[in-house]
Amino acid sequence: MVATRPVPQKRDDIPGWFFGLDRAAFSHLLSAQTAAGITGDVLELGSYLGRSAVLLGDHLQPGERLTVCDLFDSEAGDAENAAEMTMSYRRTLTRSAFESNYLAFHSELPEIVQAPTSVLADGRIPADSCRFVHVDASHLYEHVSGDILVARSALAEDGLVALDDYRSEHTPGVSAAVWEAVFTGGLRPVLLTPMKFYGTWGDAAAARRTLLARDWRAEGYTVDEDTIAGHHVLRLNYQVKTPAQIQRSTPRRLALDLLPPVATRATRRVLRTLRERRAVPPTPGA
Ligand SMILES: C[S@@+](CC[C@H](N)C(=O)[O-])C[C@H]1O[C@@H](n2cnc3c(N)ncnc32)[C@H](O)[C@@H]1O
Repeated sequence: MVATRPVPQKRDDIPGWFFGLDRAAFSHLLSAQTAAGITGDVLELGSYLGRSAVLLGDHLQPGERLTVCDLFDSEAGDAENAAEMTMSYRRTLTRSAFESNYLAFHSELPEIVQAPTSVLADGRIPADSCRFVHVDASHLYEHVSGDILVARSALAEDGLVALDDYRSEHTPGVSAAVWEAVFTGGLRPVLLTPMKFYGTWGDAAAARRTLLARDWRAEGYTVDEDTIAGHHVLRLNYQVKTPAQIQRSTPRRLALDLLPPVATRATRRVLRTLRERRAVPPTPGA
């Protein structure tokens, strides 16, 4: 039995694994597409309780459609995927919880496909129809490699794919599928964050220029550039303040000294930043 949760008041109230850095990257890339006159649908594979889907919905322009595909409370198609579902999502996830979270921020639901993402290989997402695809469903190699093929077919020229958990210790299958797509499937890296790999089958250099048009460093991020077997890629992360730097900040020190509840919130913010930087997922529903 899944416990019901109160309706979220703000986007952060929705449990999930979509954090500030990727929220900023998604928003920047989607807004830049819109500003450049690029239109297209948006697709998400793996939505859980809607944390990332709500942001994708924020960026929809008139005539564009968001489709989400998730098992929600349906059975998985194989034992390994079923084990993954039991371990991470079953206790908290229902389709109706996703729907009420989504409707707390949008007047209409997205198109919902409640099924294994493998059903999308039947071509129900028209080829070249999407400008952005977020792949965040099963983290097993066989599933992710299929999801990447779905993304490739769905994406229009220069469309972007974000692939979750491409480097976490507990998701080696995602790493294998992502780098296989780079080395044998024509996927071009654009951006790496601690949680997500961003790529395109189109013009990766143009996507990197779009990212570099923003002064991320001034906003408290680090920006680095790497070359991987001839592929240029950006890396974005948080500038993390050491406890000594935080102590040296007078307002922060005063807050720590004088206002215990504020100090508690500040400490929690630092811990959250460190957790995101290390890409350690919180416990579901935390
Ligand atoms: C990591 S969660 C998604 C998190 C979400 N994007 C967020 O931002 O919070 C993974 C989701 O994928 C779904 N899932 C797992 N295996 C799946 C499969 N084979 N087909 C469709 N959905 C699947 C789970 O039900 C779960 O909701």
